[in-house]
Amino acid sequence: MMYSLSIALFLASGCRALVSTREPVAAPPHTIQLQSRLAPKEATLRRRALNPATVPLADFFLGTDLQWFGNISVGTPPQNVSVVFDTGSETLEFASTMCDSSCDSQVKFDHTKSSTFVDKKTTNSITFATGVGVDPVVGANYRLTLRAAQDTVTVGGLVAKKVALNLITKQTAKFGIDPFSGIQGMSAQAQGFFASLIDQGLPSLFSLFVTPNAVGGAELTIGGINESKFNGTLTFAPLADPGSTTWSLTSPRIAVNGKTTSVLRQSRDIIFDSGTSNILFSTETTEAIYALISPKIKAHAAEPGTYGIACSLIPTLPAVIDIGFTDENGKAFNLTIPSSELSVGPFADSPSTCQTLINAFDGLDLVGGSVLKHYYSVWDIGSQRMGFAAV
Ligand SMILES: *[C@@H]1O[C@H](CO)[C@@H](O)[C@H](O)[C@H]1NC(C)=O
Ligand SMILES: *[C@@H]1O[C@H](CO)[C@@H](O)[C@H](O)[C@H]1NC(C)=O
Ligand SMILES: *[C@@H]1O[C@H](CO)[C@@H](O)[C@H](O)[C@H]1NC(C)=O
Ligand SMILES: *[C@@H]1O[C@H](CO)[C@@H](O)[C@H](O)[C@H]1NC(C)=O
Ligand SMILES: *[C@@H]1O[C@H](CO)[C@@H](O)[C@H](O)[C@H]1NC(C)=O
Repeated sequence: MMYSLSIALFLASGCRALVSTREPVAAPPHTIQLQSRLAPKEATLRRRALNPATVPLADFFLGTDLQWFGNISVGTPPQNVSVVFDTGSETLEFASTMCDSSCDSQVKFDHTKSSTFVDKKTTNSITFATGVGVDPVVGANYRLTLRAAQDTVTVGGLVAKKVALNLITKQTAKFGIDPFSGIQGMSAQAQGFFASLIDQGLPSLFSLFVTPNAVGGAELTIGGINESKFNGTLTFAPLADPGSTTWSLTSPRIAVNGKTTSVLRQSRDIIFDSGTSNILFSTETTEAIYALISPKIKAHAAEPGTYGIACSLIPTLPAVIDIGFTDENGKAFNLTIPSSELSVGPFADSPSTCQTLINAFDGLDLVGGSVLKHYYSVWDIGSQRMGFAAV
């Protein structure tokens, strides 16, 4: 493939069907401060709610939109660390001065310069199960070796203390081209900095406005919704697996150019992964969708799981994919992927053949940036639902 894209934003441990494993990081006990009965005056003081905050996002663009990343800061005094805000994983990890030469192309966090840094001294690893959407994952080619730690983390100016995090001490070569230093997991259960901010009174939701490169102005709003980014209303749907860390919705139907088939009418739970650009469906579903677009879309043998078609044919092909869902009032709605998403660019080994947006991956149904950039999306942890408004 043309891009040796990195980043695998679906954390393997989040998907039990997948091979990869992660040795768990001991999560710090999550304590809720009780107000003292002995201090009635304090008890009458209402905790002031935190206001929402916005983090501008940059687009990692290599001929196609891959991932959106922004700055957080870590430590005392704060050091800037750029991260992908990844709804497909759960933890925070970034390149550090503890990393061997495998992190040399990233900006590294220097823990020796932070007075609030605590080394937890345990090591673990994460193996990701999706790549950026153009390159399928092969074996453990997206693997991070980590050292557990704790420090102050600031996101959008909001400060969370004693946040569990991980320093990357080694990474596989696929991560080398990333223009950012790490990954901030944003799962459907509040963890890390987000759990701390919610304890401090921040509303338990965040919103993503990820835009095509040519549009720009992408942003993450934590604790709120930026109503000025869309017209119309948000449509909310309940999570398929409330209480789990996975952002997924049940889809009863997929249609392509207004047509469907028995395979595409099977109900499935689709994961929403802001850290992945393209789409993964089972081989059967992938081929059923491509059959409705063009019989000329063929599996690309050089890279198992990928499909392609002559680049010259792409502009002539209607490829509107309607993924059906049911909103919280029982009403059907579609998230629609326009024809412009069909090609993710030419294959390196066959430059006149363009890779198409869906990779076959049995055991997982997952969508990412190619859907999300056509909607303003709200990720509502408190109500275990997701909201979408067309942009
Ligand atoms: C919401 O979007 C508007 C318009 O783009 C922008 O000016 C504003 O700063 C954003 N507000 C927040 C809270 O991010
Ligand atoms: C992150 O901060 C650096 C300065 O430390 C700045 O150059 C860069 O533009 C920021 N990135 C984003 C996405 O805001
Ligand atoms: C960190 O990033 C922010 C905003 O992106 C910038 O204002 C600040 O100067 C940066 N700090 C350092 C130490 O680079
Ligand atoms: C909302 O609609 C108005 C009027 O058509 C338009 O000018 C504006 O750009 C739209 N805003 C967004 C965020 O789509
Ligand atoms: C969803 O898409 C299908 C197939 O194109 C269409 O028949 C249906 O009317 C759409 N549903 C809504 C609510 O727009």
